Amino acid sequence: MKGKRFKEQILQPSASRLEPCAFIVRPMTGDDLATVAAIEAENSSPWTAEQLAGERGQAGGWQFVAEAAASGRVCGFVCGRSCAGEAELLKIAVAGQCRRQGIGAQLVAQVLRYLAEQGVGRCFLELRGGNLPALALYERFGFRRVGLRKNYYASPPEDAIIMKKTILPVQ
Ligand SMILES: CC(C)(COP(=O)(O)OP(=O)(O)OC[C@H]1O[C@@H](n2cnc3c(N)ncnc32)[C@H](O)[C@@H]1OP(=O)(O)O)[C@@H](O)C(=O)NCCC(=O)NCCS
Repeated sequence: MKGKRFKEQILQPSASRLEPCAFIVRPMTGDDLATVAAIEAENSSPWTAEQLAGERGQAGGWQFVAEAAASGRVCGFVCGRSCAGEAELLKIAVAGQCRRQGIGAQLVAQVLRYLAEQGVGRCFLELRGGNLPALALYERFGFRRVGLRKNYYASPPEDAIIMKKTILPVQ
């Protein structure tokens, strides 16, 4: 029963966009780094390819990419770290021309599934207050606002919203 509840919790928000599966989510490899860095470079305050590569060596780190099932083209990625039962989603991005196709939702669903399997009970993240697409994405997956850092970001100055989701264990 708990397993069923977990599945509904993870998949329900974007179930209509998760099928049919035009995109496959899989672990990131070293070969993905150049494409991932190019996707990341489209956004504000991007990590460099070196920073992204460094994440792959981090203890408790996890990284996934979404690739188009037909072409194998990588269209988005997500990465974060887990430690002592808590996780932080550090980066998620989908290539500009691939947005609004359910890829971000598939990446978040994969992260939550992975964390549940790992026995991680809480996932935190932080985003710019004005990032409404990301805010809507996270809220659809049950992340809730738990904090605000005033004027945390620069260029442009903006508050940071901190969000948290409690993750039920897989039974
Ligand atoms: C945030 C981001 C990853 C979403 O990726 P995406 O593949 O376009 O998202 P999806 O198509 O899976 O959308 C899933 C849900 O997110 C929300 N959403 C996504 N884009 C949205 C937008 N432009 N406006 C409003 N809601 C949006 C919706 O709730 C959507 O569900 P719906 O389409 O059923 O309404 C993408 O916009 C992105 O890469 N942004 C730049 C990087 C970034 O801001 N990362 C987050 C940093 S914290």
